[in-house]
Amino acid sequence: MINDLKITDAEFNEIKEIMYDFTGVFLLPTKRNLVVSRLRKRMDELKMKGFREYIKRLQDKSTREMDVFINAITTNETFFFRGTSQFNYLYEDILPNMIDRKSKQGKKKITAWSAACSTGAEPYSLVMAFREFLKGDKSWQIKVYATDINSTVLEEAREGIYPERSLMKTPKSLATKYFENIKKGTRPGNFYKLKESVKKDVEFKQHNLKNAFPVKDLDFIFLRNVMIYFDVPMKKKVVSHLINNLHPEGYFFISLSESLIDVKAPLKTVGPAIYKLIKE
Ligand SMILES: C[S@@+](CC[C@H](N)C(=O)[O-])C[C@H]1O[C@@H](n2cnc3c(N)ncnc32)[C@H](O)[C@@H]1O
Repeated sequence: MINDLKITDAEFNEIKEIMYDFTGVFLLPTKRNLVVSRLRKRMDELKMKGFREYIKRLQDKSTREMDVFINAITTNETFFFRGTSQFNYLYEDILPNMIDRKSKQGKKKITAWSAACSTGAEPYSLVMAFREFLKGDKSWQIKVYATDINSTVLEEAREGIYPERSLMKTPKSLATKYFENIKKGTRPGNFYKLKESVKKDVEFKQHNLKNAFPVKDLDFIFLRNVMIYFDVPMKKKVVSHLINNLHPEGYFFISLSESLIDVKAPLKTVGPAIYKLIKE
């Protein structure tokens, strides 16, 4: 283990630029220690003594080190039913009208995109909320696209096994209905395995928010707790292309601790950090 691993100003700036160019994530100077601690294990594996050598490897496209680097640096905190007031608004205000409209139109399908889904708690919470509202009516199709730039979190999401703390905001009745309490190998503590009936409605895919996403006319887009890592130009770019994927009657969710003030997008607030497109 390299205990005295240090990063110079120039090396930190290069790492910062590489991260920004590839992901749009802006590493503040306060993230210096985080960069060192998160890359230490990887550099040990590679038997590297310093960041100069590691930066060279990152720049060498043939190594595919970028994926490992991004998996180490991104912050992936998430849990089920995060943003309780938003899920309440979805259930009590949005879904009654949307389901009524779609039923009348004979379009029994709900589509959503969780655009920085981490280990999957967000897209799976959405499926549970939709299924609960529809009271098990199987004539409705639910399709939730779930994407993230980090390939490790996507693997965990597909597996669908969570520690107890991920369910801290999950109503007891839903935890019992949609999860199975299990032991995970020799790991201490309780784990919860999500049932197939929820998993089957979510499609996971690696995607960088810097790039366009091909699915249009979505009823919901969730872009929560990721803009905090972006600067204003990146926020503008991401929001302006994401809203092209929204149905004219669709809803755009950001997190309660984020804002669109400096983004100036054609969106109006309709609920807690929930937006709709302004019609021309
Ligand atoms: C804190 S998690 C948010 C998870 C979930 N949306 C929530 O609110 O609980 C932020 C996620 O954004 C992802 N991310 C960061 N930059 C990204 C980018 N350019 N494209 C796609 N995902 C990105 C990270 O890998 C991480 O999993």
